[in-house]
Amino acid sequence: MNDGLTVSDPTDPQEAAALLRAGQLCAFPTETVYGFGADATNPDAVLAIYETKGRPRFNPLIIHCADLAMAEELAQFSPLARRLAALWPAPLTLVLPARAGNGLADVATAGLDTVAIRIPDHPLALAVIRAAGRPLAAPSANPSGKLSPTTAEQVRRGFGGKVPVLDGGPCKAGVESTIIAVDGERLVQLRAGAMARSEIEDRLGVTVEQASADAAVAAPGMLKSHYAPGALMRLNTVPRPGEAFLAFGEAADFGGPMRNLSPSGDLHEAARNLFSMLHDLDATGAPTIAVAPIPTTGLGEAINDRLERAAAPR
Ligand code: TXA
Ligand code: MG
Repeated sequence: MNDGLTVSDPTDPQEAAALLRAGQLCAFPTETVYGFGADATNPDAVLAIYETKGRPRFNPLIIHCADLAMAEELAQFSPLARRLAALWPAPLTLVLPARAGNGLADVATAGLDTVAIRIPDHPLALAVIRAAGRPLAAPSANPSGKLSPTTAEQVRRGFGGKVPVLDGGPCKAGVESTIIAVDGERLVQLRAGAMARSEIEDRLGVTVEQASADAAVAAPGMLKSHYAPGALMRLNTVPRPGEAFLAFGEAADFGGPMRNLSPSGDLHEAARNLFSMLHDLDATGAPTIAVAPIPTTGLGEAINDRLERAAAPR
């Protein structure tokens, strides 16, 4: 029942798709984090995402497609782009030259001549897009600058119950997709994410450059302070009395609130737990969260990126 304060949630992908086709917003699960979906061809629906998230400016959104045919209507795929697209469905977003007249709302791509696309590796996400029958713009389903949600409950809490959420349980990857710009024959990683750069290089036999500091402008969403919990953060350290502690690997109880990203030191497990455990520790009310050192290899690149943003001056 809709009591005016909270909304009723869709119970299956068809109901979610019906909301989206009607120009409303609906959050849905993906393998990375929950997405805040809108019909990417409907400018009013896309604008409502910016408004509801409090996104500071018109920062281009990732367009979610159900299959390659849908993606090819939106962007031009070079042979190199096609090799990367063969990894889909995956936590991998490709920034490609937009196809003229692709029907996307200008606000969805912030008027750029490129478009960021991915096919998510999640049965419910794919079912929603397929039932909607159109590409969906979907940023992470959190108020702008806050922690990304990996459960439906976190989405509800973030927006005070005012956003309908299709519940698909916890997300398996736990950090956002890796973003790679295909720039002629160059591949440039604009955002480290749930698919490790090294995995892409190994599987395809390609080189993926890391974006240089000034090139970060190419992914306007990569604000320095982002993914911020309420508490302050201290990284690569051990906890002091009164702090909360986010551990990694073997760690003894220190007497305060503590979560361990992965007692066995597994980076996949750590990525999956990252945002949820930050949510949990933030909820303890501790003024500061101390974080243990995390290796920078493989998925550690994305984990350290998110932690540095969470710790950045606000
Ligand atoms: O895992 C994910 O990617 C999640 C789930 C829901 O799919 N989505 C997500 O979207 O993280 P969002 O809006 O939080 O991040 C989109 C990022 C921003 O950093 C934005 O600047 C960048 O993608 N982006 C979008 N279009 C771009 C473009 N044409 N060129 C460069 N960067 C772009
Ligand atoms: Mg986000």
